[in-house]
Amino acid sequence: MTSKLTVLLVLVAGSAAWGASGIAALQPAPAEELTDKVRGFLKKEMRLLADGGRVIEQALEANDSKAVAEVAAKMRETFVHKDEVTTLDLRVLQAVLGEDFVARDKAFHDLARKLELMAKNGDITRQRALFGQMLEACAVCHKAYAPDAPVLE
Ligand code: HEC
Repeated sequence: MTSKLTVLLVLVAGSAAWGASGIAALQPAPAEELTDKVRGFLKKEMRLLADGGRVIEQALEANDSKAVAEVAAKMRETFVHKDEVTTLDLRVLQAVLGEDFVARDKAFHDLARKLELMAKNGDITRQRALFGQMLEACAVCHKAYAPDAPVLE
């Protein structure tokens, strides 16, 4: 009796898990709903962030605050300040991904600004801690909007 019940429970739990992953697979990641143009901008921004992140990682290892400040400034400037991005594009981004996405993106750029300031002051320990926070922000945002997106690898 116990073993039959166990088998039944395993079957039920198994099919529930299969059902849940089936549903998840059918739903596209939110970023896939963007227009090609806006998605193109976003991907370009992301590649710049990934390249910048790798350079900062090395610069921190080498205690090179000057390089950190330069790259953090580039990361801070990406996307929103680009002339090619029109108000309409930003509206698309906001409409598809929501206010929360825009707020996260803004918060991320604020972190880049802070890192730039710290790097200019030369405090390497605080730069390392802040860079850790930035990488966490990458991962948290990806989890919500693009679960398959890599961070620095
Ligand atoms: C505000 C949210 C957000 C933050 C913060 C963020 N990302 Fe992303 N990232 C995205 C989204 C959304 C995509 C998916 C883009 C797509 O597929 O259209 C993405 C995709 C990527 C990709 C894949 C790009 C491609 O060509 O497909 C890389 C690499 C990446 N991010 C790196 C980073 C790194 C590194 C950081 C932090 C330094 C970061 N991202 C921070 C939202 C974010």
